[in-house]
Amino acid sequence: MSSESLDPRYTIKGATAEQQQAVDMLARQFLLTDERLAGIIKEFRRRMEEGLAADGKMMKMIPSFVTRRPTGTETGSYYAIDLGGTNLRVLKVTLDGKGGATSMHQKFTLPEEAKSRTLFDFIAQCVETFLDDHNIRPTGHQPPINMGFTFSYPVQQTSINSGTLVQWTKGLNVPGCVGRDVVRLLQDALLRLGLRVKVAALVNDTVGTLLSAAYADPSSQMGIIFGTGTNSAYYESASNIAKWKGPNPKSGEIVLNIEWGAFDSDEFSVLPFTPHDIKLDRKSINPRKQAYEKMISGMYLGEIARNIVLWLADQRLLLDGRSSEILNDMWSVDTSYLSSAAVDNSPDLSEIQQIIEKTLNVPNSTLVDRQIFKVISLLVGERAARLSSVGVVATLTKRPDLLNNHINIGIDGSMYEHYPDFERIMSETVSHFIPEEQFKNITFNCAKDGSGVGAAIVAMLAEQN
Ligand code: BGC
Repeated sequence: MSSESLDPRYTIKGATAEQQQAVDMLARQFLLTDERLAGIIKEFRRRMEEGLAADGKMMKMIPSFVTRRPTGTETGSYYAIDLGGTNLRVLKVTLDGKGGATSMHQKFTLPEEAKSRTLFDFIAQCVETFLDDHNIRPTGHQPPINMGFTFSYPVQQTSINSGTLVQWTKGLNVPGCVGRDVVRLLQDALLRLGLRVKVAALVNDTVGTLLSAAYADPSSQMGIIFGTGTNSAYYESASNIAKWKGPNPKSGEIVLNIEWGAFDSDEFSVLPFTPHDIKLDRKSINPRKQAYEKMISGMYLGEIARNIVLWLADQRLLLDGRSSEILNDMWSVDTSYLSSAAVDNSPDLSEIQQIIEKTLNVPNSTLVDRQIFKVISLLVGERAARLSSVGVVATLTKRPDLLNNHINIGIDGSMYEHYPDFERIMSETVSHFIPEEQFKNITFNCAKDGSGVGAAIVAMLAEQN
């Protein structure tokens, strides 16, 4: 392919021939044609089927034990604990009976010690603080408070409120938890503090997102997180889940947590790996795992870009071969820098200058350097948005009957909310693979705060049962 046929946005004004050649090479590596995407979607579907048939496969397809839909008319206040990668929130969610919910929450930052050792005791302490600050700690005579627990990591669920951790993903790595029941671990920590709190439901954040979207709009079929990590949950008909040994639900449906971040893990057979992705993977805490997540989600995109920057600098094609202590540090390029760079349209690319010179501490960037930084941000971000459509298309086309009526998809996460053009590129790419008549039945909606609100809704459904 000649450089002329590449997107004109990738032409660097004032670049040397070597610089332009290197940028063109990157552009070709990051380009994902529809034809290539079609092959990836096909493999994604095959892996979904494999995960529905048996446990222990690449895509875990985990039954969540949620078999009902909220009607949107439920009222009352429910509690939830929402554990993300960096923060923990304890919430009181009030459902208004008209599909709306308000929440009051307290947010806690996970200290390093909690991330590597004392996680469950830390969570219990936060719950205690919340109960005391709001004067709602139950005494010996009062019934315990039921709480939903959003746990955004892969868990093999064994009931609505039990399940064993399959592996840590994203930033957490607390030893001694894999293979153990995370509700038991939390319940024990709560008991140690003498708190009358019962963990009534264990909920993946995608399941929470789906349930909170379904409370607002009963036609919701999928919940997706495009954030620090990525994953999705959807309503699957129980008869399609060959491995399901539990009772056939009255509704005929079960919410499945796909754990799609694991797609192409170990095999690395279809995703468009570049040397920069491989370098990231090798140095991550979970090499060869979460392959799809590592190309899409906020935890990783900045690091892919950092690898590219250093690769160019090492050839003296960027920053005159210079680097800095900060730039040499893994994870020093936050994905939010790419979001800012992608939309910097100022004549001298001043936002990017700020990032390179002040934040990353590499002085004297040229306009050519800044243009190249912008192209890197566009390439990494747009590949992520196009690849995100793979999971959406594969899931939607699994239940094509649903596409004949309006269906809503609830989405939450920083990539979806803040990455420039992420939603537009993702949904436009989806439209290339779904017939127009059906595509117009789909709405994508931001399910803000879905994981916390959803956990409270699942706790409510569990209580009703
Ligand atoms: C986890 C999922 C989670 C997703 C989004 C992934 O790393 O494996 O369980 O839903 O991140 O938070």
